[in-house]
Amino acid sequence: MNKAFYLETFGCQMNVVDSEQIVALLSAIGYSQVDSAELADLVLLNTCSVRDKAERKVYGHLGRFKPIKDKRPELIIGVGGCVAQQEGEKMLEKVPYLDLVFGTHNIHCLPELVQQAEQGRQRGCETDFQDRDTRLNLFPERTVQETVTRFVTVMQGCDNFCSYCIVPHVRGREISRPSQDIIAEVQGLVAQGAREITLLGQNVNSYGMKDDEEVSFTQLLRHINAIDGLQRLRFATSHPKDMTDELIDCFGSLDKLCKHIHLPFQSGSDRILKLMNRGYTRDEYLGRVKRLKKVCPEIRLTTDVIVGFPGETEEDFQATLDLVEQVGYADAFTFLYSPRVETAAAKMVDDQSAVQKQQRFDRLLKLQQQTSATIWQADIDQVLSVLVEGESRQGEGQMFGRTNSNRVVNFSGRPDLTGHIVQIKINEVHRNSHLGEQV
Ligand code: SAH
Ligand code: SF4
Ligand code: F3S
Repeated sequence: MNKAFYLETFGCQMNVVDSEQIVALLSAIGYSQVDSAELADLVLLNTCSVRDKAERKVYGHLGRFKPIKDKRPELIIGVGGCVAQQEGEKMLEKVPYLDLVFGTHNIHCLPELVQQAEQGRQRGCETDFQDRDTRLNLFPERTVQETVTRFVTVMQGCDNFCSYCIVPHVRGREISRPSQDIIAEVQGLVAQGAREITLLGQNVNSYGMKDDEEVSFTQLLRHINAIDGLQRLRFATSHPKDMTDELIDCFGSLDKLCKHIHLPFQSGSDRILKLMNRGYTRDEYLGRVKRLKKVCPEIRLTTDVIVGFPGETEEDFQATLDLVEQVGYADAFTFLYSPRVETAAAKMVDDQSAVQKQQRFDRLLKLQQQTSATIWQADIDQVLSVLVEGESRQGEGQMFGRTNSNRVVNFSGRPDLTGHIVQIKINEVHRNSHLGEQV
């Protein structure tokens, strides 16, 4: 009989890609995916530990599965991803009904862990980091998915050790994938119907920097830009310190490279940037933004910001507000600082009250919401090129796609427009999407 698994994915795109691998590995051992834990023989959480809230969510979710397991003790429950990597065996101790734990370098162990649990009800945990060669060999064959947009991993891990960040601890050292493999994968995905590719990594633009034999990230972009059938190219996330002039200039010269960049700045204060170990100053960051806007005046920027880093003063925070105002981000992910185990910042003196941090957060959010509204309102009445991704959840006959600047647009249209670029006049601007009509 066919067995069923239920998988929930949290966190960033790295986990989304890892989950695609999980699906492929489980299919190979006779499991098919279902969309409810009640119907599953195996439930898995692919987890994120970037902030405390994300981590706590995992335990909350596991709690939901307990009553199901009480009724059906043969249910197998597993946890992978960044919380699994960080907690390891401790998770098995904390959660007595948990069967298996697999780390970020151990997805390939999943079939064996599942089979062990099936056969002997044996609980298992694999969280050892693998060396570079093993990791490069473990890049999986992707499952065929007929979607218009796909992610392609170009590098894994992170060596930056920003002082607040757990990612280097849970994803391990940075490795770049051979460019031939990346190019071949993009060609394959385009042959399967993909029209837009996002190159993925925690710090994509450090691609190849530690590897003399590898091409630079800019050269990689040029190669991919030349692939026939590909319509759009994006990459995420970029680190400001590795944003070379050569790379910035690609936004003016590569026709498929979308006019949007996600460029986290984290703080507008030089003092805090230094404490964060970010490796750039406010002026350097602003200089890169200036050049981006010069080579590509229509470019839209998005960013990540942290509020309430240990020791942040009102003056530091003002510098953040001021930078947000100067740059004019189309969107920003704003985060309250969350101390993470093993990180350098967790040991710094943090004397700001939670109330004060929350007030700053609210001020920043208000400013950003006004900025976002102004920027997106400018699209009203414009006719924009939209790459159609499929039918929208808005209802029958409704399609959705994305503008070059990465804004979701809903409109009425035929399903066979999927994969095509259409011209849409923008009629309404909502908080997270546009509404328009085909012209
Ligand atoms: N590699 C990417 C993003 C990593 S995590 C980069 O370097 O930009 C995504 C975002 O989470 C970060 O940009 C940061 O703004 C936020 N973040 C990471 N650690 C955090 C922490 N301890 N507290 C609050 N926000 C955090
Ligand atoms: Fe974390 Fe910094 Fe690495 Fe991004 S670059 S993943 S914020 S350590
Ligand atoms: Fe979260 Fe891990 Fe990504 S901590 S943000 S899922 S790398």
